[in-house]
Amino acid sequence: MSQTILIEPNDDLKKIFSLNLHTFVGTDVIHRHNSEDTVNLLAILPQIALIITRAQVDKDSTAEKISKYLKEHNLDIPMIVMGNTENVDKSSLVMPDPINWEILIAHAAKFLGVTLNDVAKKIKPDYLPIGVYYFYDIVNTPCDVYIRIKKGTGDYQYVKRIHSKDTFDKEVIKKYEEQGLKEFYIPRDYQQYFINFLTNHLVKKLERDDLTLEDRILTTANTHEIVRDQVRDLGLEESTVDLADAGIESMIRSVKNSPEVTNLLKFLFTNKVSYAYQHCHLMTVMCHYILSKQSWYKPDHLETLSFVSFFSDVTLKSMSQMQICDTTDLNDTPLTDEERAHVMSHAKDAVELIQNHPEVTDTMKHVLLQHHGAVDGIGFPENPDEDIHPLAKVFIIADNFVKILLHPEKPKSKKEILPIMYKRFTNPSYQKIIKALEQRFDA
Ligand SMILES: [Fe+2]
Repeated sequence: MSQTILIEPNDDLKKIFSLNLHTFVGTDVIHRHNSEDTVNLLAILPQIALIITRAQVDKDSTAEKISKYLKEHNLDIPMIVMGNTENVDKSSLVMPDPINWEILIAHAAKFLGVTLNDVAKKIKPDYLPIGVYYFYDIVNTPCDVYIRIKKGTGDYQYVKRIHSKDTFDKEVIKKYEEQGLKEFYIPRDYQQYFINFLTNHLVKKLERDDLTLEDRILTTANTHEIVRDQVRDLGLEESTVDLADAGIESMIRSVKNSPEVTNLLKFLFTNKVSYAYQHCHLMTVMCHYILSKQSWYKPDHLETLSFVSFFSDVTLKSMSQMQICDTTDLNDTPLTDEERAHVMSHAKDAVELIQNHPEVTDTMKHVLLQHHGAVDGIGFPENPDEDIHPLAKVFIIADNFVKILLHPEKPKSKKEILPIMYKRFTNPSYQKIIKALEQRFDA
């Protein structure tokens, strides 16, 4: 689903615009307050499809500043400005007040390439954007694949680039990416067919015994990205469950003969693996390290913790949300109130999301709910209690270690990280788990 930024300070109008954009145009609406938080988001999400903004919010020349940013960063994102301003790029559509929401929605649909014949009817786009990385692990597709070319303001043409009978490889896809392409398009009617085709292909690849460790990690990383996308757009559907199960199984296989952490980190960074998967993979490695030191360890414990790693932060949208591991981080990270609320409740939200998984166990749900140490799945207790599930304690310690290790401004070495953790987690069973991690590294 495409993503649209909406900047509208009036709560009633915000609700009307959001609801109608989502219902009639089929776009996911992200709210922003001003030019500053919009620009911050564009820096990490340049694939935003449309921006709808007030010309001015309080004293902030919102539209003008965003327009300037788009120009300076060569971002070809259409913008609809509500209110009067002359200082925006000519390609922007300026709509003077009062705003008629039906006209606004019709313009948004045009910008997003959606046919909007009748607003009373639920409209879906004719072509759907599919991230370029969906094509990394396949060599053909079940349908023709297009790229979108801009003909004029809000006017697009779809040009066929891969025929359904063509074969290609990752190098071909990478070349498109190097030229700046972020998304291909497929006809909407093929969406489910394409996803099923891709799922079957990825599951088969991940189940192969002859995959190199590198190929396994990169294919699992790609699977994780696709699962996150699918969950965000459609919830946890059957094909996504199959894909996630294959990814978790593959991750467990790869950590059992994992390279040492320094080399693993180098590999993950060199190959531009997403932060979400770097965290997920390293979590499974660390949990494996800690569990192997516990006398009560059984193989299904690693399965539980890998499952929790895969889904723990799946409802979070941005890297800055995923990097948070304590209340200080939560207060210091620039987020909107809505984003902060999502971070606070993400453990609880993840449990709700995986209810549809046919094989989820009570232990998995329990550990997922408590994966930051709160019994109700809300917030980040500074020093979690002893009555937390033993596997959740292992997760909390591993998570803290991995988040510090991956944070660009936090300590990088075990010698610096472990004292911080001994100081924070003072309860005896947590201290023992930190000790187990320390010993495994010494081994
Ligand atoms: Fe989390």
